[in-house]
Amino acid sequence: MSKYSSVKGMNDLLPPAIDTWHHLEKIAHETMARYGFAELRTPIVEDTELFTRSVGETSEIVGKEMYDFLDKGGRKIAMRPEGTAPAARAYLEHSLHQKEPLTRWYYLGQMFRYERMKTGRTRQFWQLGVEAYGSGEPAQDAEVMELAVHFIQRLGLADVRLEINSLGDESSRPAYLERVKAHFAPHADQMSDDAKNTLATNPMRLLDSKEEALRPLIAHAPVMLDCLDEGSKAHFAEVQRLLTLLGVQFTINPRLVRGLDYYTRTAFELVATSEVLGTASTVGGGGRYDRLIEQLGGPKVPAVGWAMGLDRLVLLLGDKARAEPPVLFILPVDAPAKDAALKLATQLRHDGLKVDLDPRAGSLKAQFKRAAHVGAKYVMVLGEKELQSQAAKLKQQSDGVEREVSFAELAAVLRA
Ligand code: HAM
Repeated sequence: MSKYSSVKGMNDLLPPAIDTWHHLEKIAHETMARYGFAELRTPIVEDTELFTRSVGETSEIVGKEMYDFLDKGGRKIAMRPEGTAPAARAYLEHSLHQKEPLTRWYYLGQMFRYERMKTGRTRQFWQLGVEAYGSGEPAQDAEVMELAVHFIQRLGLADVRLEINSLGDESSRPAYLERVKAHFAPHADQMSDDAKNTLATNPMRLLDSKEEALRPLIAHAPVMLDCLDEGSKAHFAEVQRLLTLLGVQFTINPRLVRGLDYYTRTAFELVATSEVLGTASTVGGGGRYDRLIEQLGGPKVPAVGWAMGLDRLVLLLGDKARAEPPVLFILPVDAPAKDAALKLATQLRHDGLKVDLDPRAGSLKAQFKRAAHVGAKYVMVLGEKELQSQAAKLKQQSDGVEREVSFAELAAVLRA
């Protein structure tokens, strides 16, 4: 036993659970390609300021949860807590806005947040995210939301619902925030210090507070949907019309607010209804962020996107996905057969077949045990006689049926 363990909240991903991850990643790459999204890979660390300026200084993610440090050159660096800001940074750094009117990216990677851990919530977690730049049209919102729902459906997860809301824009938000402040301020003395701080810095986030004492107040708090400017109202109506056109089911949740500050207009979340995730039931979230690129020093480029927590999806999927077992396990009986078995396995692998053997080549009994453990479909014992005749008995493990097969026709037989 080692005295070392992984850093708290950061998990190893081992076989056989890794099979579910591969399955998920395969469906992710395939689906993104169909929808015309290209993969982006950014570094795991960025300048800390990128996140303070985009996700927001007063957000919990930046204020409390970021893994930030000084590097050996004295630079302020943060391990990315999310992927939207790094993608926006890359978009600007590589002048994509000058190269193409529309950019559609997706990414898959680890994110880091120093959070209190529970089921479905870790300090290193994986996100699949998409970001679409260049279109302010409601059709772009609807397209990325449908993509999210379709991805979930392709995974075979039925119990996930889409909740949507509109958070307005710069013309309607300030007046709304004043109303929220006025609603909560008279009750500040009943609030925790945390909630008081949120009231002062980011009042809309109070709608998302889990504090028991705030519940009745939240229930009667003004909602953004009642205060939308005409543009945001029309945009939201059009998004709903298009989702319906595409057959995407959704519910409107007027209290849906997001934990990141960059959103304007559309915001949405995908929430699992199964018990598996407990209170960490939000498997994905996103929205429109039409001001972020400008805020980071670029031109005005509208954008919309989402990210899903892959660790949560894996928990929902359970161990449904399993890698294919080897089609053949070769068992040599002595030293010359051992060389021949390795050579045969290598040839078959080069032919595209999944073939296994035990390089220790111990007793036949131990090798049969290993063949059963890896779930091989066929087994083949190799000895002097088989090497001479260049043929051996191929035994199907499920029913014990045997047939003589020459090495020359083995690949074709295994493939059939
Ligand atoms: P987010 O809502 O902060 O959005 O994260 C998206 C998803 O990541 C969550 O719904 C959840 O499934 C997963 N997640 C977050 N924190 C954890 C954690 N500690 N452990 C496990 N899973 C977690 C964003 O990050 C935005 N960048 C999404 C976006 C993209 N908006 C526009 N484009």
